[in-house]
Amino acid sequence: MKKIINIGLFSLLPIKIFPKNYFNDCEITTSDIQGPFYIENSPNIYNLTPPEITSDFLFITGTIYANDCITPIPNAVVDVWHANKGVKDTNSNSFINSDYDEEYFRAKIYTDQYGNYAYQTILPGKYLNGSQYRPSHIHYKSSYMGQNEVTTQLYFEGDNSIPSDPWASNINSQNRIIPLINDNNGDLHGVFDITLETNPDDINLSKLKEHSLIKGIHPNPITNKSTIYLNRNNEECFIEICNINGKSINKITRTNKAIIPISELLNSSDIKKGLYIIKISSNNKGVEAKRIVVN
Ligand SMILES: [Fe+2]
Repeated sequence: MKKIINIGLFSLLPIKIFPKNYFNDCEITTSDIQGPFYIENSPNIYNLTPPEITSDFLFITGTIYANDCITPIPNAVVDVWHANKGVKDTNSNSFINSDYDEEYFRAKIYTDQYGNYAYQTILPGKYLNGSQYRPSHIHYKSSYMGQNEVTTQLYFEGDNSIPSDPWASNINSQNRIIPLINDNNGDLHGVFDITLETNPDDINLSKLKEHSLIKGIHPNPITNKSTIYLNRNNEECFIEICNINGKSINKITRTNKAIIPISELLNSSDIKKGLYIIKISSNNKGVEAKRIVVN
C-alpha cells in the first residue's frame, strides 16, 4: 500500500522539477554589481580603444540567447564598459591603478542577424577596492527590447585577484570567468555568451537571418555537453574545424542531423586548448562560421 501511495505522489510532482534544458547545462546569465561608472548612451562602436593603442588587443565575441540557450536573439543590446590598462607593477607582473574613462573603453553594441556581437578592446587593469585589487573585469548590461535586462561582469581565468574579490569569487560568477587565448600576434581572444530570461516566442524572428544555418553552439567555451544546433531541412551539412587563421585542422564531417554533440567532432581530432572556428556549410545555405573556445 505504501508503495502505491509513493508512486501516486511522484506522478503529481510538477514536470518542471528539473531546470530548463537540464541536460545541456542551460542557465540564465547571473547578475553582478553595476558599480558607479556606468554611463548611458555609449556610442555604437566596435573598437573601444583610443587611437594611440595599436597592439595587445583583446577581442571578445559571443551570442545572446533566449532562455532555452538555443534560440539566438538578433537586435539585443550589449552595453559594455571597463577600466583602462593602468600601469605595470613589476612585483606582481599585473597592470594596476587602472581607472574609468568617460570617452573610451565603453560601447553599446547590437547583436547581428545571427544574435552575435563582437568588440575589440584591451585587457582592463586592476583597481583598488579598499585595500584589495579588483580582478580585471568588463561590465555588461544586456537586454532585448528593453526587457529582461541583466547587469553583470566578465572575469578572466588565472587572475590572481579573483579569490579575494567578494563578487568574482561568488559561486554565481563561476560561469563568467572565461579563458583567454593568445594568438601569434600578441592579441587575446575570448568568447562570452549571454542567456537572457527572454522567451523564444517573444523574439522578433523577422530580424533573424532568413536562411541561417547555425542556430547556436552551447555551452561555449566548450564542455562535454556542448551541442551544435542547426536550422536545416534535411539537406546534408558539412562541418569543418579551423584554427584561428582559418586553416582546416580536421577531416570534414558530413551530417544529416540538426543537433550534433561537439564531443563527436572533437573526439576524432587531436584538438588542444585554444580558439577555433567551426565552419558549417550546405549546398543550399552556403557557409557560416562561429568561434569556439576549447578549454
Ligand atoms: Fe568595475
